[in-house]
Amino acid sequence: MGKDVIIACDFNSKEEVMKFLSKFEDESLYLKIGMELFYSEGPQIIKEIKKQGHKIFLDLKLHDIPNTVMKAMRVLADLDIDMCNVHAAGTIPMMEAALKGLTREDGTRPLLIAVTQLTSTSEETMKKDLLINEPIEEVVSHYAKNAKISGLDGIVCSPLEAKGVHDSCGAQFLTITPGIRFATDDKGDQTRVMTPAQAKEMGSDYIVVGRPITGAENVVEAYRRCVKEFVG
Ligand code: C5P
Repeated sequence: MGKDVIIACDFNSKEEVMKFLSKFEDESLYLKIGMELFYSEGPQIIKEIKKQGHKIFLDLKLHDIPNTVMKAMRVLADLDIDMCNVHAAGTIPMMEAALKGLTREDGTRPLLIAVTQLTSTSEETMKKDLLINEPIEEVVSHYAKNAKISGLDGIVCSPLEAKGVHDSCGAQFLTITPGIRFATDDKGDQTRVMTPAQAKEMGSDYIVVGRPITGAENVVEAYRRCVKEFVG
């Protein structure tokens, strides 16, 4: 199981992302592309980045009826992405349909990861707006198990939760963990943060790092520092 650093490319335009990538020479990177860039630039941005030899986690968080998600995933699989995600709240039939749609004729497919409860949703909001009355940790753990039952490869979670997820869903079930900061960094809007080295200690499989790399004075050096701490 490969540990890797995924760079969150939270840029608004193709120009910005290409300018960022041009700073790296022959390095093959793993990039998270989100809705903003995908919706503004279209699937072409994926093809162009793939042409440069980078891996892509396409963070579109699909959530719809199973048939629609299956068909959308079929389109994403053809884009040759390496990882994508769905909301576990879409239920087991939706996650199973996503997996089916993602599987190419030759049996290969990108990794499929579930989002449990968004970190922007508090237990109070979950109760009030969604009428989910269980403690939020139990909801997250239950959604993780549903993702595992559906055949998905892992979930997005905090590095603090990585060990618990591995204990309940197995060591092979992947934990993709944002909320990473260097010990010397400003936390920004993240609250519960960990360094790459601490995330490694907690058993994270992939760390997702945005501003500590993209906002660094020397982005290449910041990326390499992350890799050194996390991968070794
Ligand atoms: O800049 P920063 O390192 O905070 O970026 C983290 C990335 O991970 C962003 O793209 C953010 O949207 C994403 N993310 C997160 N927390 C979650 C899920 C995703 O920070 N729970």
